[in-house]
Amino acid sequence: MNKILEKRQLSADVYEMVVEAPLIAAARKAGQFIIVQIDTDWGERIPLTIADAAAGNLTIVFQTVGASTRKLAAKEPGDCIENILGPLGNPTHIEHFGHVVCVGGGIGVAPLFPIVQAMKAAGNRVSVIIGARTRELVIFEDRMRNYADQLTIVTDDGSYGRKALVTEPLKEYCSQDTKPDMSVAIGPPIMMKFCEKTTAEFGVPILVSLNTIMIDGTGMCGGCRVTVGDEIKFVCVDGPEFDGHKVDFDNMMLRMRAFKAREERDHHRCRIGLGLESAAFQ
Ligand code: FES
Repeated sequence: MNKILEKRQLSADVYEMVVEAPLIAAARKAGQFIIVQIDTDWGERIPLTIADAAAGNLTIVFQTVGASTRKLAAKEPGDCIENILGPLGNPTHIEHFGHVVCVGGGIGVAPLFPIVQAMKAAGNRVSVIIGARTRELVIFEDRMRNYADQLTIVTDDGSYGRKALVTEPLKEYCSQDTKPDMSVAIGPPIMMKFCEKTTAEFGVPILVSLNTIMIDGTGMCGGCRVTVGDEIKFVCVDGPEFDGHKVDFDNMMLRMRAFKAREERDHHRCRIGLGLESAAFQ
């Protein structure tokens, strides 16, 4: 049992919770995720990314897109989550690259935050780009400011920051005389696809997190199968992060659409909130 200590509503359907989980909080590394079972041993397994960890507590950010996440959002501080399993997945490859540009779209900004922290701690110059449809959906701005050397905010409707897609400032960084040594993108698959295209033009490496395609995180359902280079990979076991230049995003998005009807029927949808719905890039 893991007690919920804090709950905040970040936007209409996005929530942040701080949950007691001392062992996971001590062991987790940037890029890893947890599996949450809200009520009983028979409850749905929800893979959620870890947005932060401190003093024995985990911060999770999730979007209410199905029955289970609505159930989670209905809980209040003092209530408990039945089971939390983790940390799972391979940690982000962190080293002193030099200049790292980190791009987060929508709720993907939350799992990006520990990577920004770790890249900064490794001595990198870290430039952060946050993208959202509108001002109300911009999250983690203050937290990012504490670690980012430069922070750029873009919105689809221009209600906050620049009216642009994240690829515009990304391209500007890549066009500089000294181009970035590494980039990271987490967000809707279509956003990551275009970040990949932008960086490929300039020969800048990019790491992408494919959390969005995970279903139960067990390594058994096969739902998170993706093509990376010439290989078939399973995001929950081999990832969740991959070399973006090798990921077949079109195939990934096709597979996600294939599951959509069933997800609707079974109330079993992507809970990480990085689905295909973002207005950006549509
Ligand atoms: S989420 Fe089921 S195998 Fe990866």
